[in-house]
Amino acid sequence: MADTISIRPAGTADDWTIPQGWDRYTPEEHATWDTLFARQLRQLPGRVAPEFLEGLDVLRLSRPGIPDFAELSDRLMAATGWQVVAVPGLVPDDVFFDHLANRRFVAGNFIRRPDQLDYLQEPDVFHDVFGHVPLLANPVFADYMQAYGRGGQRAAAMGAIDRLARLYWYTVEFGLIRTDDGLKLYGAGIVSSHAESIFALDDPSPHRLGFDLKRLLRTKYRIDDFQQNYFVIDSFADLLDVTLNTDFGPVYQELAGQPDIEVDTIMPEDRVYTRGTQDYARRKATATVG
Ligand SMILES: [Fe+2]
Repeated sequence: MADTISIRPAGTADDWTIPQGWDRYTPEEHATWDTLFARQLRQLPGRVAPEFLEGLDVLRLSRPGIPDFAELSDRLMAATGWQVVAVPGLVPDDVFFDHLANRRFVAGNFIRRPDQLDYLQEPDVFHDVFGHVPLLANPVFADYMQAYGRGGQRAAAMGAIDRLARLYWYTVEFGLIRTDDGLKLYGAGIVSSHAESIFALDDPSPHRLGFDLKRLLRTKYRIDDFQQNYFVIDSFADLLDVTLNTDFGPVYQELAGQPDIEVDTIMPEDRVYTRGTQDYARRKATATVG
């Protein structure tokens, strides 16, 4: 994901990409990938959007362990015209949007340590590739990601990046989708997390609300713990449609005069799938204070 840093590290190209350096991964690093991959494969069936499971096939490459981005990009290019490029970590917003607008997904090339399986500060290759790439093999979601990149470029020109970032957060990272078989996960931040892939679907604590673009763009989010609210889309086609067919300029202007909505608030007009107890967040807050 993008950040506000702007000093390009030595050794990166103008677009902040670096060689993945697949040959430099250690057996231990490949084993960490295999452990995380196997663990999520056991957990996700029945919980995740079918499109994600279908897309997982692009990750099954000729060599085990951390995917080789060259081979992965060949697969993805054939499916939807996307590529995966390596970066050393977070990249500036304009660089991030330019890559997405050109159907390039930026992925960290490092992997978490074995003692960090459940915790990491910066997105690593498991989050970026396992979490994000399967849906990039889906033609509709692939178009959505490009549309988001283009929207990001326009938002930058309008000083509205922070507001648009909420759309990425609540869909690409932490989105839920309605299916005939109940709610399912698709956000990369959820599907790549062993704990949140249970919490987001099963825990009584968070709210689960129907996706509404303007409402979502007014809603804060938290980066330090499980989400307190999730937004549920009806379909990827709907998500793409609203993103392509909304004139965001007037929306940004309209919303600039309205207060933000807190993460635990339910509005009278919300479509409520689950009215959460918020017990988890309350317990954590109490524990922190106490
Ligand atoms: Fe991500």
